[in-house]
Amino acid sequence: MTTQNRIVKISPSILSADFAKLGEEVEKLSQAGADYIHIDVTDGHFTPNITIGPQVIKSIKKYSSVPLDVHLMIENVEKHIDSFIDAGADMITFHHEAVRSSIELIRYIRSRGVTVGISIIPSTPVSEIEKLIGEVDLVLIMTVNPGYSGQKFLYTQLDKISEVKKIISDNKYNTGLSVDGGIDKKTAKLCIDAGATILVSGSYVFNTSYKNYKKNISELVS
Ligand code: DX5
Ligand code: ZN
Repeated sequence: MTTQNRIVKISPSILSADFAKLGEEVEKLSQAGADYIHIDVTDGHFTPNITIGPQVIKSIKKYSSVPLDVHLMIENVEKHIDSFIDAGADMITFHHEAVRSSIELIRYIRSRGVTVGISIIPSTPVSEIEKLIGEVDLVLIMTVNPGYSGQKFLYTQLDKISEVKKIISDNKYNTGLSVDGGIDKKTAKLCIDAGATILVSGSYVFNTSYKNYKKNISELVS
């Protein structure tokens, strides 16, 4: 199956990449069949760690032939949103827990011509965002606590994926369903069975040398 007609899309997270050669890594992922490039932004407040900011996104933009899927795990999203859009983010997912008004932010991101997603951490129930599911392009269910790659998949989140899937189906929404954290061959299958349409994967895709990115990406959907 070619990447274009795959139903489930793969968004490799560059949090597991070699930061000394990010441009090259992004180029290789684009060529290896990645549908998007997932960029994890953390601020040391919403998460314990700090990763990257808009300047890095701007620098790697020219190396990618696929959309940049920016996952904002930060507070003060409203203050920083323009800098991420101006840097070249094609898709922006923010955390419902971190903003004052999710609906206002959704409308603002849309008005700037960018695809918008909303995410919840493992302790937040789906009911908190139920009314917003029809307003966004994608819902991202975190299957680890935000911050680091290489954590263990939280099986407790599978029911939440099914719950969001049911809301999307019942209402005939055209909303994507992304999962992020601890995705490998086994957990990918469980998430797809539960209704996921986008799989974010860091350590699984990056666990070997360049030549295997293609194999690792395709294994997640096989
Ligand atoms: C975690 C990030 C993830 C992470 C995924 O906060 O949102 O995107 O990099 O990495 P793995 O696949 O290794 O769990
Ligand atoms: Zn992420």
